[in-house]
This record gives sequence, structure tokens and C-alpha cells, in this order.
Amino acid sequence: KVYTASTTAPVNIAVIKYWGKRDTKLNLPTNSSLSVTLSQDDLRTHTTAACSSTFSTDTLILNGESQDVSGARQQACFRELRSLRAALESANSTLPKLSTFPLLIVSENNFPTAAGLASSAAGFAALVRAIANLYELPQNPTELSRIARQGSGSACRSLFGGYVSWEQGTETDGSDSLALEVAPASHWPQMKAAILVVSAAKKGVSSTSGMQATVATSELFSHRANVVVPQRMEKMKQAIKERDFETFADLTMKDSNQFHAVCLDTQPPIFYLNDVSRAAIRAVDEINKKAGKKIAAYTFDAGPNAVIYYLEENEQAVLGALNGGLEGVEGWKNVTASADVSIEEAFLQPLKEGITRVILTRVGEGPVRVEES
Ligand code: DP6
Repeated sequence: KVYTASTTAPVNIAVIKYWGKRDTKLNLPTNSSLSVTLSQDDLRTHTTAACSSTFSTDTLILNGESQDVSGARQQACFRELRSLRAALESANSTLPKLSTFPLLIVSENNFPTAAGLASSAAGFAALVRAIANLYELPQNPTELSRIARQGSGSACRSLFGGYVSWEQGTETDGSDSLALEVAPASHWPQMKAAILVVSAAKKGVSSTSGMQATVATSELFSHRANVVVPQRMEKMKQAIKERDFETFADLTMKDSNQFHAVCLDTQPPIFYLNDVSRAAIRAVDEINKKAGKKIAAYTFDAGPNAVIYYLEENEQAVLGALNGGLEGVEGWKNVTASADVSIEEAFLQPLKEGITRVILTRVGEGPVRVEES
């Protein structure tokens, strides 16, 4: 007999960035972080977990290709989930001993891996959620986030929809380093995001090794982690509770810039932003200037792609202003510029040359269980 369970899990994009580990084995961060979960209509991982006494070894297949599962991250997730299942089995002897069976995990993304979008967050969240479903574990998303965190830090935030924090915690065993729901998507459903995919010639420094280099060599870093981020976390939670987009935008842009500043302060320096990224920053700043208030916010992860958050009510103003630079790009929808917010050609020209694809999406829900057909 083969036991199976399936789930989907979303991508999240941080507005207060996780950057730095205080424990590299347990993936414990040096600061808390906060993200917006994006809609699974546009970006999601679908994962099926199966187990059977007839399987020979643990196997993971991602987008049709077999992956190495001997790595510490996968092993930690498998081990933790098996031990929760084993506890259920020892409490109830009628349960099948699934914890002793090899696992087969089959995972697929509905977005091109080539787009260079961080997929490890959705991937590990889906892996943990699928196995938890397979094992019929009673643990809630926060409890499961402790496990997903060990797969990839940012993955712990993909177990919830909406607005999600990852509280850094203080315990050395990581038991209080967990994700919490700040607000569900329904609290502020008007939040939209445009992902501008920038063609990158070569792959940059991975986030795992980049953040370790920053912790080891940046002198600005401890100020960010210990002084700036704790204050921003509080302000950001408040802004989300009050649906205060201007404060949300202000903090989001400052935090992206400070994260890239500590990257630049790393030895040797890490450059994730390129000329196209900087052009997107200039364009958003110009849109906000013309609008007379912050109606758009950019943020960048460990790569050149821009994510621009804006509210539905400002869609025409924001997308309309960018239209001249993005018209014809795959995924873009034409929006006529509104008269009051238009920006000059000079801001748009670099986008024309550098953006290869756009994904228009919005805030969305957490993992969804998929019933076998
Ligand atoms: C810049 O979660 O990919 O996207 O824990 O080593 O797997 P590991 O790192 P990862 O780092 C994400 C860094 C970031 C910011 C963020 O998502 O908070």
C-alpha cells in the first residue's frame, strides 16, 4: 500500500528582511523578519508526499528531476516530521507505522525556475506541509514553521497566508524561532505586487553564503540586526494593522536598501542590485514624487528582480506610469497612464532594455490541502 497526501504552498516576499544566522545548523536568524505571502494563482509549489514499506529510499523529485536528499536541510525536515509521527504511533498502536517507511516527495512549481525567483521558501513549506498531511500531524502552522525553518529560513513564513512574521526567538535550541500570522490576507486584500524579472547574466552569491559573509565581516550589520530591525518590526506590524500603506512603503523601501547596504559593506562586497534594479528604484521614487505620497514600494531579495507593492486603488497610477517601459514585456498588461502620475522617458528606457518578464500578483492565502482525485 502507498499512502499519499498533497498540498500547495505559496511564495513570500519579505518587507523586513532576514539576513544573518546566529546558528547555521538550526537556521536561527540574527533578526526577526516580516513578509507578504503572494497569491498561489500566480506562484506556487505543488507537492505530493507518499510513503510505503515497498519504497527503497527517501527520494525527492523537483520539476521532474531527482534531487539530493542527503543534505542537512532535507534530513532535518524528514527527521523532525518522522519523530512527530512516531510519537502518534506510540500513543496509538492501531496506526500504520508510516514513520518507518521511505518517503517519495514529488514537487512542481507553476512558475519558471529560470525566472530566478526564490523558490526554496515555497518548496520547503510545501514539503513540510505535505508530509505533515501524510502523517496526519495535529501540529499548527506555527509549530510546523519550526521545521520548515530548518529547510530554509524564509520557508517558515510560507506556512501562512497574508502578512507573516518570523520571530527570531532567544532559545539556543530554536524552539521559539517561529512564524506567526500578523494579519490574514482578508485583513488587507487590496495589496498587489508587480514582480519585474531582470535578466541576470550570471548567478550571484547564494543567500545562505552571502548572509554568513555579512555576519562575519560587516561592521554595519550589528547595528541593523540589533537596533534598526527590532524597531522596524514593531512599526511594520502597526502599519499593517492600520492598513497604512505610506508607512508600509516607507519601511519596505528603507529595509530593502539597508539590506543591500550591509551586502555592500561585506568583504568582499556582495552586489545583488544591477543598473536595471537601480532604474526600477528611481522610477518608483519618481512615481511617488509625482503622486505626492507613497503609492508604490520596491523591494529586492538576493538578486536583481524588483518587487513593487502597491494598493489596488492605485493600480492605474502605478502601472500606468511604468507602462511606457514595460509595454510588450511577457506578463505585462497595458494600462493607460493617468494624467497626474506620469514619469519621463529617461526613467523608463532602462526598464525597456532590462526587464524580461513581469508577474502581476497580489497578497494570497497559505498552503492549501489538495485532495487526491
Ligand atoms: C534576502 O531563506 O533563502 O530573501 O535560510 O540560508 O535558506 P537560508 O536563506 P533564505 O534567505 C532569504 C533571504 C532574503 C530575505 C528574506 O526572505 O527575508
